[in-house]
Amino acid sequence: MGTYFCFMAEDLILICSTDKKEQYESLIPQISALITGEDDLIANLANICSALKEQFGWFWVGFYLVKQGELVLGPFQGPVACTRIAKGKGVCGAAWEQAQTLVVPDVDAFPGHIACSSLSRSEIVVPLFNHDEVAGVLDVDSELLDHFDATDAYYLEQIVKLVAL
Ligand code: SME
Repeated sequence: MGTYFCFMAEDLILICSTDKKEQYESLIPQISALITGEDDLIANLANICSALKEQFGWFWVGFYLVKQGELVLGPFQGPVACTRIAKGKGVCGAAWEQAQTLVVPDVDAFPGHIACSSLSRSEIVVPLFNHDEVAGVLDVDSELLDHFDATDAYYLEQIVKLVAL
């Protein structure tokens, strides 16, 4: 199946493809261009959420930032969400504590999963590092079971590395 351009939203070109690798590879240079020259963290995180939501249509995509020892909700796209998450709690707190990406194919099978929405069935959480310290996480939720895999982990890790913390 060939890739073709769906439409252009402002400066974002969205592609119609069922191949997530193609989708990420189209999106990443555009995200890089979007945030280059802008040093405001919140503005950049907000545009990253928007770009990801526009291309992939995920149920929820957003950031939590470490503030005074807990994760606090940052820019996101999707339904309202819980605002604070303690270290080690839920998938986000576990990814923070373990300082690694967590792919959760079935949130009901993850002990301590925090259900901001009962519609969320699978999730991926990718830490943002400031040197060796976790400074926040990117959290993506899907209404579909087993929606995320190593390809998402690989590319989302590339995307969060674009962010200067
Ligand atoms: N499910 C997450 C909480 C954040 S929401 O999904 C937006 C967790 O278990 O940490």
